[in-house]
Amino acid sequence: MLSQPLLRLVSAVSRRRMKLLLGIALLAYVASVWGNLINMSVLLNRSIQENRELRIESRIEEIIEPLREKIRDLEKSFTQKYPPVKFLSEKDRKRILVTGGAGFVGSHLTDKLMMDGHEVTVVDNFFTGRKRNVEHWIGHENFELINHDVVEPLYIEVDQIYHLASPASPPNYMYNPIKTLKTNTIGTLNMLGLAKRVGARLLLASTSEVYGDPEVHPQTEDYWGHVNPIGPRACYDEGKRVAETMCYAYMKQEGVEVRVARIFNTFGPRMHMNDGRVVSNFILQALQGEPLTVYGSGSQTRAFQYVSDLVNGLVALMNSNVSSPVNLGNPEEHTILEFAQLIKNLVGSGSEIQFLSEAQDDPQKRKPDIKKAKLMLGWEPVVPLEEGLNKAIHYFRKELEYQANNQYIPKPKPARIKKGRTRHN
Ligand SMILES: NC(=O)c1ccc[n+]([C@@H]2O[C@H](COP(=O)([O-])OP(=O)(O)OC[C@H]3O[C@@H](n4cnc5c(N)ncnc54)[C@H](O)[C@@H]3O)[C@@H](O)[C@H]2O)c1
Repeated sequence: MLSQPLLRLVSAVSRRRMKLLLGIALLAYVASVWGNLINMSVLLNRSIQENRELRIESRIEEIIEPLREKIRDLEKSFTQKYPPVKFLSEKDRKRILVTGGAGFVGSHLTDKLMMDGHEVTVVDNFFTGRKRNVEHWIGHENFELINHDVVEPLYIEVDQIYHLASPASPPNYMYNPIKTLKTNTIGTLNMLGLAKRVGARLLLASTSEVYGDPEVHPQTEDYWGHVNPIGPRACYDEGKRVAETMCYAYMKQEGVEVRVARIFNTFGPRMHMNDGRVVSNFILQALQGEPLTVYGSGSQTRAFQYVSDLVNGLVALMNSNVSSPVNLGNPEEHTILEFAQLIKNLVGSGSEIQFLSEAQDDPQKRKPDIKKAKLMLGWEPVVPLEEGLNKAIHYFRKELEYQANNQYIPKPKPARIKKGRTRHN
């Protein structure tokens, strides 16, 4: 029934029309396939692009993450927590200059003055000091660090001056004796001139070395000393002696308030590792597993004060009314051998103790008389030797670790030479 009209239609449509219809159908089919292909390629492209974007994003993330970490660290350092600082009223807060404040003693003094709530300006030329010693204060509103050589004049407004700028250990002060002399003479004149101009009180960090090779034991402040003015140590010993003379000249002639601390051997964290002194030598030798070198029998005695005791003494002296020189040191004597054994035990070192030939000019005793400090300042050392040594050992151990990777590890220098012989300092 259906085939009749269909046959009629087929026969009615010419061959050409048929071809046209087939062509159209083919075109429609190709177009639909093409459309699908285009759709597919768009989808494919999109997913490739999305993939690529994902990969780029994760790569960017990889690069950015360490940067973010650094920014977080930087932010932390901006909001750095300083050691706790007391609040002082305007009336009690002093503007204090510490020359040599980036050195061993000066940096501990700076810590105390800052924590007591004062405004502290550290002036240092970084000859033997380092920024690391005071970096924990950088950025604090009460603290300022100035890179300046005291041999040049300085103009600032201060109420007190702790004048510590000077190399202190024999290898350091003998390195450039003329500079040591200039620092102790011209530098002290400059600081006294500043004290005079602004009406500040000046404390001079003098030394037990003003007693030279003493004929009096223990040394009292009224002993005038026994110094060789042309020996290798004279640049320091005589430099400090003339610095004391200058202080009293300014006091008498210009009315400048002066305080003079005669400091005896001091030890503690931030002391120089390679200054050739007995404590640093023994600690470094023990930590590095080298023999602890003792010259002679080791029965010579030495007395060392821990740095926090000295700092308390300096502050007590500055704020006292004692203008004459005062000894600050620990009178507790120990033999060199006792020091060696104690340090070896505290380090837990297997190092042996090596006895080297005796140095006949090695002083048998060195000990301060601190009656004056006790009486007039109510000051005396309180830190037990072992406690102080443990802190110094901890510091030296950390320093060795810090330097181990890529830096120079200081070797203990032989004890200083005097008249051609080695001796303990
Ligand atoms: N450490 C001791 O056992 C001892 C003993 C007696 C006296 N002292 C005296 O105490 C003071 C401090 O001694 P330390 O052991 O801290 O020594 P240190 O070498 O660690 O400190 C001295 C500081 O003074 C700075 N300095 C040196 N010359 C300078 C200059 N021309 N201008 C500016 N800054 C300069 C150094 O860079 C360093 O920071 C010194 O005056 C020293 O004579 C120390």
